[in-house]
Amino acid sequence: MKVAVLGAAGGIGQALALLLKTQLPAGSKLSLYDIAPVTPGVAVDLSHIPTAVEIKGFAGEDPTPALVGADVVLISAGVARKPGMDRSDLFNINAGIVRNLIEKVAATCPTALVGIITNPVNTTVAIAAEVMKKAGVYDKNRLFGITTLDVIRSETFIAELKGLNVADVKVNVIGGHSGVTILPLLSQVEGVTFTDEEVASLTTRIQNAGTEVVEAKAGGGSATLSMGQAACRFGMSLVRGLQGEANIVECAYVDGGSEHAEFFAQPVLLGKNGIEKVLPYGEVSAFEANARDSMLDTLKGDIKLGVDFVK
Ligand code: NAD
Ligand code: LMR
Repeated sequence: MKVAVLGAAGGIGQALALLLKTQLPAGSKLSLYDIAPVTPGVAVDLSHIPTAVEIKGFAGEDPTPALVGADVVLISAGVARKPGMDRSDLFNINAGIVRNLIEKVAATCPTALVGIITNPVNTTVAIAAEVMKKAGVYDKNRLFGITTLDVIRSETFIAELKGLNVADVKVNVIGGHSGVTILPLLSQVEGVTFTDEEVASLTTRIQNAGTEVVEAKAGGGSATLSMGQAACRFGMSLVRGLQGEANIVECAYVDGGSEHAEFFAQPVLLGKNGIEKVLPYGEVSAFEANARDSMLDTLKGDIKLGVDFVK
């Protein structure tokens, strides 16, 4: 199993690489790429951790050496928000970065499972799909927008509010990954009831949690450590699915034939070919149905921006 991290010298990339070095199965290979010259040094640093995961770092303009033979590619290359910015403000820089990296993925490891972290995820995943289509290698079961941070935040905030063991809290988060497109399905959380006020305030907090971190870091970037953990959880689920483990289910932003939009975050069953099955997200409350329907114009606009960028 070979996992490549693109953007590996950044805040997310380094945290993710550290977690993968300690969690990937013995015998795996971990490949780090970033334009930053420090990247081979990051790999040397991590290589001193005593796990049976071989690690190599690559810097420079061309990610190809890092991508050769990759089974999973996780992309966090790009710029992050500062206070006052929206995720869509990152489009001008990050769209081109993702397009260029995916062109190399399409040429070098076209059957790899690709997880995109770079914002705006609602748009960068559409860009990746269009680039893959142009290259003639698109497989919708192998491309994922990583929305796991919304899931772990939801689990954390619910457990805090209700005094629960967070390990027992499971929640689906559907839609996309920005503002109103992030929709936690609180009505489905087992063994918990929320007042209408709690649903409204918790939903808003989860939707604005990225901004909470951006403001707390006061110009020093956005979520990196929690995102490293979220990306590791998702990446490890991809690896476990590839290795044939059963019942691996994660929410992700996918081209899953949703009736709502071309790309939509919902639970997917993972396996040896990436998505084995797109799962229904279940019954929703009237509040959630209204929030879902109200987000669709925004989500579709975000997707169109990505499609038009490549075309
Ligand atoms: P960062 O600035 O710390 O790191 C980004 C890294 O990307 C840097 O090391 C930079 O050198 C590298 N980079 C830039 N252009 C590159 C290129 N063409 N090829 C390879 N590497 C390149 O930023 P970060 O905090 O790690 O965030 C990275 C991205 O992840 C941002 O777009 C951010 O908005 C996004 N993000 C997404 C989520 C999510 O839930 N999906 C959560 C947090 C952050
Ligand atoms: C997050 O949700 O923390 C990320 O998307 C980063 C951001 O800009 O909010």
